[in-house]
Amino acid sequence: MTTLRAITGTRDILPEEVSAWHRIEAVARTLFARYGYREIRTPVFEMTELFARGIGAETDIVAKEMYTFDDRDGASITLRPEATAGIVRSVIERNLMNTDPALKVYAVGPMFRRERPQKGRYRQFHQVDVEAFGLSHPSIDVEVIEMALAYLEACGLARFELVLNSVGDAKCRPAYVEALRTELRRSAPKLCADCQRRIETNPLRVLDCKVPEDQAIIEGLPRISDHLCTECRDHFAEVRRELEMLGIAYRLSHRLVRGLDYYTRTTFEVVSGELGSQNSVLGGGRYDGLVKDLGGPDLTGIGFALGMERLVMLLPGADEPRRCDVFVAALVPAALDRALLLQRDLRRAGFSVLMDSEGRSFKSQMKRADKLGARFVAMLGEDEMARGVWTLRDMRGSSQEQVRDEALAAHLRERLNG
Ligand code: HAM
Repeated sequence: MTTLRAITGTRDILPEEVSAWHRIEAVARTLFARYGYREIRTPVFEMTELFARGIGAETDIVAKEMYTFDDRDGASITLRPEATAGIVRSVIERNLMNTDPALKVYAVGPMFRRERPQKGRYRQFHQVDVEAFGLSHPSIDVEVIEMALAYLEACGLARFELVLNSVGDAKCRPAYVEALRTELRRSAPKLCADCQRRIETNPLRVLDCKVPEDQAIIEGLPRISDHLCTECRDHFAEVRRELEMLGIAYRLSHRLVRGLDYYTRTTFEVVSGELGSQNSVLGGGRYDGLVKDLGGPDLTGIGFALGMERLVMLLPGADEPRRCDVFVAALVPAALDRALLLQRDLRRAGFSVLMDSEGRSFKSQMKRADKLGARFVAMLGEDEMARGVWTLRDMRGSSQEQVRDEALAAHLRERLNG
């Protein structure tokens, strides 16, 4: 029989590692609420058309990486490769702007991309995603970036770098893309096959190329910063001014175009040198045309998504030891019922309680209690049963005392808090 295995590029998050996940999820919920964000949960699959129109048919994500299948009724369905498009769909469909003209939402959950798996790159991965709608002033760009950095710090990440760019808008970018294409056509034969294809389909993506031989040519290409219209230039200047006013350090990169087509103006990423080639912890930007493109009102948007696997990889391994306040040991078969009752009552009183109901020997029960890290063992044998008491062993000092049945919960609380 063949062994059943997880699908390539997916991984189990095991009980030993899950506490880090709980921690970063809890930090997100507490911190984002301070900035006025509320959680939204959208479906894991959507109509394929949403992503094709939202993210862009010529992006790698849509062209090569989506998990797309025909549903039984023939509809084309795709597992979400990112969260933004689905959230925008929900904002439009459910008219969320009516109730809240400055809508701030976040989402946490799995995304799916059929990329080549490697360290920090999976086919099912998880994002913390943040989106703010209906705000145009550059101060929201800065607030979103500041919150992203505050989040990383609150999670315990010490070293990272903020990279910043502006990719212009529908007014100024087309002329830049044409200038880029003209220049690229001249160097086409010297570029890698992917870049040659991108010259016609999506020249901006060339700026993202990592092939070493292409780098000298790419560095000499026209830069978006020289082609921004007045409005985009003013917007970017104000973003930078406010970042500096808040003391937020950043590095400008004219090559930060990002892998999704919906961006306008501000784009940003946070990178970490400790991640290797998949060095982006989070990425995002403004997408002022997306809501309209997907059939909604003319509404601005900005947000970012963080890769949770990558953040967890970067955090110091602080696995919480699992908690076991009391291990209940029934030393004779007749003690089982009272042990089960005690276990239930102590759990209801707020203690974490485990026991062994397999009738194992005293020695093996003590071994088990030790392995579980139990703070106390409550033992019940024939003698204790006759006298209505429990023998309580403190596993730290190995001291023992006898406590009356009805006094046990209060006694434990005192000892555990003391
Ligand atoms: P993205 O840059 O495609 O942006 O993904 C954001 C983050 O998700 C990356 O920085 C990375 O940490 C993580 N990530 C992406 N792909 C993988 C993968 N295959 N394995 C592990 N982690 C991965 C977006 O998804 C946009 N929706 C962000 C956004 C929100 N922009 C505006 N609002």
